[in-house]
Amino acid sequence: MTMKQIKSLHAIEILDSRGRPTVMTRCELSDGSIGKASVPSGASTGTSEAVELRDGDPTRYGGLGCLQAVENVNTIIQAAVTAQPIADQQALDDLLIALDGTPNKGKLGANAILSVSLAFARACAVTEQVELYQWFGQLADVTPRLPKPMINLFSGGKHAGQQVSIQDVQIAFPKAATMNETFAAMYSVYYTAAKQAQAQHGVRLLTADEGGLAPPFTSSEEMLAAAVAAIEAAGMVAGEDACLTVDAAATHFYQSGQDYALDGNTISATDLIALYAEWVGRYHIISLEDGLFEDAWAEWQTLAARLGTAAMTLGDDLLCTNPQRIQKAIDTGAANSLLLKVNQIGTLSEALHALKLARSAGWQVVVSARSGETEDNWLADLATGWAADYIKVGSITQSERLAKYNRLLELEALSV
Ligand code: PGA
Ligand code: ZN
Repeated sequence: MTMKQIKSLHAIEILDSRGRPTVMTRCELSDGSIGKASVPSGASTGTSEAVELRDGDPTRYGGLGCLQAVENVNTIIQAAVTAQPIADQQALDDLLIALDGTPNKGKLGANAILSVSLAFARACAVTEQVELYQWFGQLADVTPRLPKPMINLFSGGKHAGQQVSIQDVQIAFPKAATMNETFAAMYSVYYTAAKQAQAQHGVRLLTADEGGLAPPFTSSEEMLAAAVAAIEAAGMVAGEDACLTVDAAATHFYQSGQDYALDGNTISATDLIALYAEWVGRYHIISLEDGLFEDAWAEWQTLAARLGTAAMTLGDDLLCTNPQRIQKAIDTGAANSLLLKVNQIGTLSEALHALKLARSAGWQVVVSARSGETEDNWLADLATGWAADYIKVGSITQSERLAKYNRLLELEALSV
């Protein structure tokens, strides 16, 4: 690519799907090309994630304001990136990392930095007159391909007021040949599950943070059984037409030592691993994310060995899209698939490094949204451009989720 001159950056504070502030940046290049990007925000975050800079002023958004992050883009970052031409995405990201100077982007804020990294990529795609997914594909030297969605059906844990410990149950449709087929099938499962929740729990269709249903299940296992029941009542064969993918987010029900508080009962890591292995068979689970505490490296190894090829051992909080942690998991066999969330690491180039590392070990990759999202749809282009195996965005309700799904439908219509 030819050198790019950034003419200006302009960040503002906008709101995410929980009504919390986040950062949107507009990047204009000297040829007039403009790219805008908004950053998402997690609730069930890993300790090793890059730092979201929040104002901490309790009188404004409970301390969650992003005015300082916005200011950092508009002053320090803008001055640095407009001072010279930028060779490519890597050069911009290196500059941003050096400017911050901390290992976790705590000075300028990963929210500030990522908004610039992504807005620049969008502006470059405009200059180069290609679709964003094509641009991402070029950056990664990957042939774009549509990912398969893992679509949220039920939530518990931090996404739904902790009525059960397991955080998210998603549905994947291995046989669906198209996005259209996938969403039509999910519609049947979702509304069948909603009817069943009404009949069994007397609850209306009220939704969790990612738009999934959150009936007052009495246990995590009841939630898994209800998902399989909804698949079958919708006329599909569980394990063939539709499978479960589960995000336990176990860091958030880990107690201490090696114990977990699963639905209020203390269970050892050993017993939890054995239980997961049973669940995988019984409930047609093809992927288990964050089955264990984020730093329980030895137990993760046991879990991955136990699940083998029956289900993906998928690392989210464990890996935090961090190349060092991914390398450690590769070396020790602690996981065999990567959940990739760009804002966990803070720049596009570092996320790309994470992708390459995972692929070099033969891992599967799931590109994921956060529970706090915006209507920005860059994630659909990223998952497609980087040829992720899966994309995890949330439910088929709520427009911040649909922005991504509708973009996937558009990309399918463009014959990607
Ligand atoms: P978060 O959760 O965006 O709230 O961190 C999503 C996930 O755990 O995968
Ligand atoms: Zn997760």
